[in-house]
Amino acid sequence: MSEPDITVAIEGLRKRFDAPDGKPFDAIDDISLTVRAGELTAFVGPDGAGKTTLMRMMAGLLRPDEGSLNVLGIDVRADPQSVQNRISYMPQRFGLYEDLSVQENLDLYADLHGVPQEVRRERFGRMLEMTDMARFTDRPAGKLSGGMKQKLGLACTLVRSPDLLLLDEPSVGVDPLSRRDLWKIIDQLIADEQLSVIVSTAYMDEAERCGQIFVFHHGRILADGPPDALRKRAEGLGYVADALPDRPARVLQARLIDAPDRIIDAVPKGGDVHFIRRPQCDEAALADLLSDTRV
Ligand SMILES: Nc1ncnc2c1ncn2[C@@H]1O[C@H](COP(=O)(O)OP(=O)(O)OP(=O)(O)O)[C@@H](O)[C@H]1O
Ligand SMILES: [Mg+2]
Repeated sequence: MSEPDITVAIEGLRKRFDAPDGKPFDAIDDISLTVRAGELTAFVGPDGAGKTTLMRMMAGLLRPDEGSLNVLGIDVRADPQSVQNRISYMPQRFGLYEDLSVQENLDLYADLHGVPQEVRRERFGRMLEMTDMARFTDRPAGKLSGGMKQKLGLACTLVRSPDLLLLDEPSVGVDPLSRRDLWKIIDQLIADEQLSVIVSTAYMDEAERCGQIFVFHHGRILADGPPDALRKRAEGLGYVADALPDRPARVLQARLIDAPDRIIDAVPKGGDVHFIRRPQCDEAALADLLSDTRV
């Protein structure tokens, strides 16, 4: 059997920034990975894990400090323009023109990317059908719901057909129903256009339908694999702690994060705190840390 096509190959990648206190730190800290072509891949990680930084480097918008970065067979550091010609990137805060209508937004992005008129008609039709927005072409983008805004953002990102699609947290601010729609659209794109898609998200459960997941934390890859294998590995490591009236979620989160020898990460969610313990942190050590909390 032949090797599956590789769409992204990264080796020893590093990106250093200055923290607010002026000290340099590695937002991407020696990352190596390969992404297979023609499937959905997820970058999962909490705020500040480095997802956006990595995507911007892959899109040729940010220069790495060290390492090699190959996208669609192109050395991104040597030739960012060639990569940009073949990928579409939807940033975390995608810029729609709120005063312009759905159709005007599509026209504007097609102009920006120099999409020929004869290609547009077919492409717009397909995007509007896929996102179920054909009825709303006259509506100002500012009057759309969060879910519809994201779908329009996706349609604008796809005014020309790329070989690789990068979506940075596309489901933020989207209600659960529209979120499901959004994932369906992405699935359909992969099936119909043999597209490779990389999507970032803070939520593991969203990554269930991906072929491959990379879990990021503090600029490193904590784990990777297909969803099933990751779930098995993570079994028994994830917890939810109820915040108590006198101990708000963020205080509890701070305490958990302050024990990096026992806890990998903790995030507040809906008034509770979701956290992951290190495999070597046993139940007794955990109980000690959470002595006055219900888990
Ligand atoms: N231009 C920059 N200058 C300095 N620090 C930066 C810069 N861009 C990102 N960072 C820092 O690098 C780290 C990684 O940020 P990044 O935006 O890549 O994370 P993320 O995983 O996308 O998180 P988020 O959930 O916030 O989108 C963070 O600590 C962030 O503050
Ligand atoms: Mg980000």
